[in-house]
Amino acid sequence: MPNIQVTDLAGNVTTLNATTGNTLMEELRDNGYSDIEAICGGVCSCSTCHVYLEGTWPAECNARSEDENQLVTSTDYYKPNSRLSCQITVSDDMDGLAVTIAKQTY
Ligand code: FES
Repeated sequence: MPNIQVTDLAGNVTTLNATTGNTLMEELRDNGYSDIEAICGGVCSCSTCHVYLEGTWPAECNARSEDENQLVTSTDYYKPNSRLSCQITVSDDMDGLAVTIAKQTY
């Protein structure tokens, strides 16, 4: 159960005690982070689960699939550390890492 620091759109910083094996999007959405709308339900077709990975994340978290890369780089708020949180599976080695929720593009 890794603890992940989350900064929401208002700048509030909280700690998410995430469940290993779920996606980061599911953990954010289901734990009250309403800035994450996840309209497509996690099938990588909406970009309303956009986040920024802060600091050093495990290498596998920094790798986007081709589909994710196309979608996230076309958002208005893209940054090099952008990810779609539905495409990241929570693992124990994420303990202590930080994520910032991005403004969503519709
Ligand atoms: S929830 Fe739609 S792309 Fe992640």
